[in-house]
Amino acid sequence: MEAFVLLGMPRACITGLGRYVPPKVVKNDDLRQWFDTSDEWIYTRSGIRERRWVEEPASTAELGYYAAREALARAGKSPQDIDLIIFATLSPDMYFPGSGVLLQHKLGLETTPALDIRQQCSGFVYGLSIADQYIRTGMYKTILLVGAEIQSTWIDYHPEGRTVGVLFGDGAGAAVIEATEEPGRGILSTHLYSQGAYAMELCVAEPSSATRRHELPGSYGMRPYMNGKEVFRHAVQRMGEAVQVALATQGWQPEEVDLYVLHQANIRIVQAVAEFFSLPMEKFYNNIHKYGNTTAASIPICLAEAWAEGRLKKGDKVIVAAFGSGFTWGSAALVW
Ligand code: ACO
Repeated sequence: MEAFVLLGMPRACITGLGRYVPPKVVKNDDLRQWFDTSDEWIYTRSGIRERRWVEEPASTAELGYYAAREALARAGKSPQDIDLIIFATLSPDMYFPGSGVLLQHKLGLETTPALDIRQQCSGFVYGLSIADQYIRTGMYKTILLVGAEIQSTWIDYHPEGRTVGVLFGDGAGAAVIEATEEPGRGILSTHLYSQGAYAMELCVAEPSSATRRHELPGSYGMRPYMNGKEVFRHAVQRMGEAVQVALATQGWQPEEVDLYVLHQANIRIVQAVAEFFSLPMEKFYNNIHKYGNTTAASIPICLAEAWAEGRLKKGDKVIVAAFGSGFTWGSAALVW
């Protein structure tokens, strides 16, 4: 691949990062007004102390907009420089159209293409791969990739909703991805996977095209379902495999990587991956204690915070990996 770069094939490089989380902090104990739960249960099982929730009414596209403005400013770009918007979310503003076009309009753009992807927790990694392909072929030079979620509105606040409800938070992250011909920098490889056999193990099955609106019972509502133990088992295995394939493709040893950014679903998943590769937790950037699982937003929020804290420096080797509903999973290897 290096030969292509020398011949002038561009590589995709993250040049700006932004994130937005709503100001309202919801601590574990605050959830006790709906659920029979405790700070101790949630923290020991997941690593979460608190999360952010929007004040309603709110818009996923709007959260994405705030993150996008910050990412564009940090990249020194204006909305007019964007050739393509990729919007990753499992909680779009509407059933259709997707939130990407809403963001496009908010940014004051007229006809810039906007692509929504529905890869849940793996959405940002899938988006990186899509952006990478468009940039390598030369079709686009500047891509805005956004992961944004409002999940506090689909949480099931009935007592039985506690297993899922305590884990998720709202927020958005964004990356400006640009073509670079600087050798050795940018997205080096991406690896994507999915396994629909497990689609029903973690899902919000309604609203659904399978159900006619007038047939819905009066108590109808969005009811998330998660087979927590099964999802956890697959997440540990697949996230480890995704990191492994990124390492092997680059010929990197695990300890050579400066920073790992894994999707923030449960700190115990990250700990299991760290243990598998005999790596200290300091190699992994985590903020799940502050935000819970922000699904497609979790990796760009981590990257934006890691960058702001000086933990991403030019030349650093970085691996990002995610696993989530679908099942979908994947990874990317980058040099900052
Ligand atoms: N508070 C207190 N007790 C609870 C709660 C709660 N919020 N939720 C469930 N419990 C109870 C259950 O009822 C059950 O009780 P029982 O044993 O009497 O039936 C018990 O706690 C279950 O406890 P554990 O089995 O020890 O829970 P576990 O260790 O499996 O942790 C968790 C649960 C945190 C959900 C874990 O399974 C997990 O993180 N799974 C993976 C999540 C994930 O990776 N998701 C992917 C990304 S999300 C996406 O793509 C949208």
